[in-house]
Amino acid sequence: MVELTTAELHGALEDSALNSMNFLNEVAGHYPDAIQLAAGRPYEEFFDVADIHRYLRLFCRHLSEKLGFPDEQVRRTVFQYGRTKGVIHDLVATNLALDEGVAVDPESIVVTVGCQEAIFLVLRALRTDERDLLLAVSPTYVGLTGAARLVDLPVRPVASGEHGIDLDDLVRGIRQARAAGRRPRACYVMPDFANPSGMSMDLPARRRLLEVAGDENILLLEDNPYGLFHGDAERLPTLKAMDESRQVVYLGSFAKSVLPGVRVGYVVADQRVAAADGTVGLLADQLSKIKSMLTVNTAPIAQAVVGGKLVEQNCSLAKANTRERAVYAGNLRRVLDGLAQRFPHAANGSAEVSWTAPAGGFFVVVTVPFVVDDSLLERSARDYGVLWTPMRHFYDDGAAVRALRLSCSTVTATEIDAGLDRLAALVGDELRRIQATAELL
Ligand SMILES: Cc1ncc(COP(=O)(O)O)c(C=O)c1O
Repeated sequence: MVELTTAELHGALEDSALNSMNFLNEVAGHYPDAIQLAAGRPYEEFFDVADIHRYLRLFCRHLSEKLGFPDEQVRRTVFQYGRTKGVIHDLVATNLALDEGVAVDPESIVVTVGCQEAIFLVLRALRTDERDLLLAVSPTYVGLTGAARLVDLPVRPVASGEHGIDLDDLVRGIRQARAAGRRPRACYVMPDFANPSGMSMDLPARRRLLEVAGDENILLLEDNPYGLFHGDAERLPTLKAMDESRQVVYLGSFAKSVLPGVRVGYVVADQRVAAADGTVGLLADQLSKIKSMLTVNTAPIAQAVVGGKLVEQNCSLAKANTRERAVYAGNLRRVLDGLAQRFPHAANGSAEVSWTAPAGGFFVVVTVPFVVDDSLLERSARDYGVLWTPMRHFYDDGAAVRALRLSCSTVTATEIDAGLDRLAALVGDELRRIQATAELL
């Protein structure tokens, strides 16, 4: 029998970023009765199996009646291997025009297996040799860090500052990297209700970021799975909507706005790419080559489900998610009010426990005066019956972090109340433990 060691496999496989999602899923699996304030999953109560059949029918009818496909072409589109860049690109382009005010050629869209594949395709394409470097606002989505590891692309963290990105730190990072002979290729950002921080960039910050990216000649990778869930706040234009010089690669996900089980996302890559033979095409076409060797194409049946939903909703998912937006906004308010009730001293200005107050999205970050690590999470799940995410998973340096992320997306009001009671019990016990230790010293 052949026995391998991880030293004989890709170095990333020993990296904590690649263990992160599995570890968190495992803890949740071990404690199924624990209240789920960890997962950034969409609310399940509105899902109905019957919808899937209706979406499939609607998409097939769209192909035959709207696009005039004969029966065999409808069958082939849904049953067969298909176009690598996808079969719902026109609908996605219309969706982007309606919901985001983004006008793009459908040919610049690659429909992917979730946004996660889109991230991977872009990083794979940008990483040419060991000089390349990615910048990313820190803390950042662990799926970005893991994908970067897999393509051997180092990530230089950029401070988030007060406005979602510290532009001075971004410029410093770019210049330091260049001075050291590195090639900063892009900066990964989530301007709307970032995962995990919940922070958003205001309009001036978005404008300045585009200017800096232009001046410094780097791409921006804009990831936007939470933009539709803006609570009562006014929606701000995406960077892509403000992008006049094709500086922004836009990463989209249907996981929260349609359903995660289809695993469908997309990337808008309208950057022009000159080939060695002098022809000029789109970055999307280069990404499509990578995709053809990774997943061949995104399952057409999954695309048809999303396509059917888009057809049913006249391509606007903003309106289609009115109920969901209200649920998430209500849950977020309940979490924030619930924290204030349970940690009144914090609300009165004590620095013991504090938290962010995002206007929308799924996430709240709670800062505490003790280290929050995986063993505390296990203890929380086992002894207190509540799951959350240690913020350590969203930093790349392995340093101890005194904060945790709460997600409010997949729970009911009653579960939020019980979950926060349990979290308060855990925090109270930890605070008493710290105090007792201090008194002993
Ligand atoms: C910021 C961010 N980007 C990308 C993804 C992955 O999206 P998808 O499920 O479409 O692959 C997630 C999932 O939670 C996310 O939070």
